[in-house]
Amino acid sequence: MSTPFHLHNKTVLVTGASSGIGKQVAISCSAMGAKVVITGRDEKRLAETFSVLQGEGHSQFVCDLMDETQRNNLFDTIPAIDGYVHSAGVVAPVPVKFIAEKHIRYIMGVNFESAVLSVARLLKNKKLNDAASLVFFSSISVSYPYAGGALYTASKGAIEAYSKNLAIEILPKKMRSNVVVPAMVKTPLYEETKNQSMYRSAEEYESKYPLGLGMPEDVANACIYLLSEASRWVTGINLTLDGGFSIVK
Ligand SMILES: NC(=O)c1ccc[n+]([C@@H]2O[C@H](COP(=O)([O-])OP(=O)(O)OC[C@H]3O[C@@H](n4cnc5c(N)ncnc54)[C@H](OP(=O)(O)O)[C@@H]3O)[C@@H](O)[C@H]2O)c1
Repeated sequence: MSTPFHLHNKTVLVTGASSGIGKQVAISCSAMGAKVVITGRDEKRLAETFSVLQGEGHSQFVCDLMDETQRNNLFDTIPAIDGYVHSAGVVAPVPVKFIAEKHIRYIMGVNFESAVLSVARLLKNKKLNDAASLVFFSSISVSYPYAGGALYTASKGAIEAYSKNLAIEILPKKMRSNVVVPAMVKTPLYEETKNQSMYRSAEEYESKYPLGLGMPEDVANACIYLLSEASRWVTGINLTLDGGFSIVK
């Protein structure tokens, strides 16, 4: 039986592919038949991801997406793509009283600005093939805020709003834009944030997940759906992945 849930004949660019969710998205996309273009800042960890991709024809680019020259070089160099997954992201809790310009620049810069400017460059350079699918990451913390999370959740709320507007502008080429909204996924970012929630311990927090914490594979599978023909009728949505967190909380 043929399946629409594959990525054969597609080239997919994954940012943040040197770690966590982005790394797994790249690996899973390659397993589903895609040629994958991966990017991240850490050369060694990016090369580790590259070494475990399945199939052939992949490429890797070390790039700091906050550096305009490096970012533009990347989007001038890569081949045309059918899928874009923006997994580059940072989390840095700051109580509202102590928010300074540098925090806004850093968090909004990576989580929002770099995504927006990357897509602008992709469109200007005609690097998005017709019917391309774009995927961004928000966080369930937009709906379930936490102390210190004002900037992080604001950056994710911004990307949700941006994606819906983008979805309208790219409709004529049958391109699609969607947002995956995960709750806690076991990645290095989780290790940084697990003790910053309102709960007394990581164990108490984890007990709020009837289906357990998410794994990078769970998020990668959702991305494969959104990148594949199986989701050709889906655009402008936020797809929540939370292991039941929001129904029992
Ligand atoms: N993990 C979770 O529980 C969770 C939940 C909800 C949403 N999310 C979202 O999912 C996305 C991925 O999270 P993750 O857990 O996989 O995080 P992660 O393991 O910390 O990985 C973050 C990635 O972003 C890249 N990055 C950071 N700053 C960059 C910059 N200036 N230029 C280029 N790349 C940059 C890092 O590259 P280097 O390491 O090479 O510097 C790394 O590859 C983020 O947007 C995050 O907000 C995660």
